[in-house]
Amino acid sequence: MTSLLVRGASRVVTPSGTTARRGEALGELAKYEGAVIRCEDEEIVFVGPSDEHDGKFPPPDEVLDAAGGCVLPGFVDPHTHPVWAGSREDEFNRRLRGESYMAIARSGGGINATVRATRAAGFDELLGGTLPRLDTFLLHGTTTVEAKSGYGLDLATEVRMLEVIRETDRRHPVDLVPTCLAAHEVPPEHRDDPERWVRLLVETIHPEIARLGLAEAVDVFCEEGVFDLDQTRRLLADAGRYGWGIHLHADELTPLGGAELAVELGALSADHLVHVTDRGIEALAGSDTVAVLLPGTSFFLRSSYAPARRMIEAGCAVALATDCNPGSSPTESMPMILALATLAMGMTVEEAITAATLNTAAAIGRADAIGSLEVGKHADLVVLWEPTHFHVVYHYGINPIRHVVKNGRHVVKNGRLIH
Ligand code: NIG
Ligand code: FE
Repeated sequence: MTSLLVRGASRVVTPSGTTARRGEALGELAKYEGAVIRCEDEEIVFVGPSDEHDGKFPPPDEVLDAAGGCVLPGFVDPHTHPVWAGSREDEFNRRLRGESYMAIARSGGGINATVRATRAAGFDELLGGTLPRLDTFLLHGTTTVEAKSGYGLDLATEVRMLEVIRETDRRHPVDLVPTCLAAHEVPPEHRDDPERWVRLLVETIHPEIARLGLAEAVDVFCEEGVFDLDQTRRLLADAGRYGWGIHLHADELTPLGGAELAVELGALSADHLVHVTDRGIEALAGSDTVAVLLPGTSFFLRSSYAPARRMIEAGCAVALATDCNPGSSPTESMPMILALATLAMGMTVEEAITAATLNTAAAIGRADAIGSLEVGKHADLVVLWEPTHFHVVYHYGINPIRHVVKNGRHVVKNGRLIH
């Protein structure tokens, strides 16, 4: 057994519990002034006053001096597309000149541009691109990421992407939770008959990925011009049989009713929700499906934002993610997402912190194990350079993270990787 004691923090700030928080409770954080945290192997075994710790436990193997910084849970990012080849900064520039995301996609760019580059890349090239991205996630305080495939859109490349995710999880301190998003788009070779592609997914690609055990969950881009409600329903019909949780790209560009469908299917999460309808909000509020909002995508596509305040007031379990991908949100930074959640969507800092930790853990089915700093949970935490939790967003546009502990190991020290 190895032990690590985090001491010298100004305060430890964390949501509490093992389920998503909503309504008033979303903004309720526990604040322990001057508390220490003891980690033994991967687990938190004590959070409380220093003298109480010293009376109960032997001296630790290692001490991390937080030097007056604020301690928070590590961020959990529940919606990312971190495996890809190529780059799409040309599209970014076209959008700045007024072209829309969908128009660029229909002219051969968009998701299919990354599909071309990703199909052409081998395993080592994809792994070599993904590992440094995980370093960037970690440096910005993210300790667990959900990771989607979806730039292969054929069996071989979808499998390769999921194998890259598995290998990255093995090699990198950040935990990756794999999702099959083979239903991300209709590939060019099936554009003439999208139904043929839906059948191929249902009859061949999804069953094979399930058989290989490469995914924990499945996702579909349910959107006008991609997969409609009926196709999405068919694509997800076997998820339970495969033991897969369900995520849904829902109501991102048009109000199609994806939120309602996610609730009907008992999904872990409905994501994006920029155009969620009143009925969709009502359905989410009455369910355990977490509403994952992606304000980085709105910012980067210069579109409107999801109605976070209305959703919180209605009682939805709101969470936040980067949507890290080369097209619509090329960032690994959860502090940036929290800045947007507060400054652009009107959330409070406290709400945003819960929405980026405990509620995101719930969105990937892990709230029993991560997402808060409590005895029995994984020792995944960050130490800020500054003494209060407000500094996650207040000093914006810089990286506020000084130290990261992942599974009880000190992996980022003074803003530098030491893993
Ligand atoms: O979540 N909406 C679909 N998928 C991604 C975009 C991926 C891309 O443009 O490459 C998203 O925004
Ligand atoms: Fe996405």
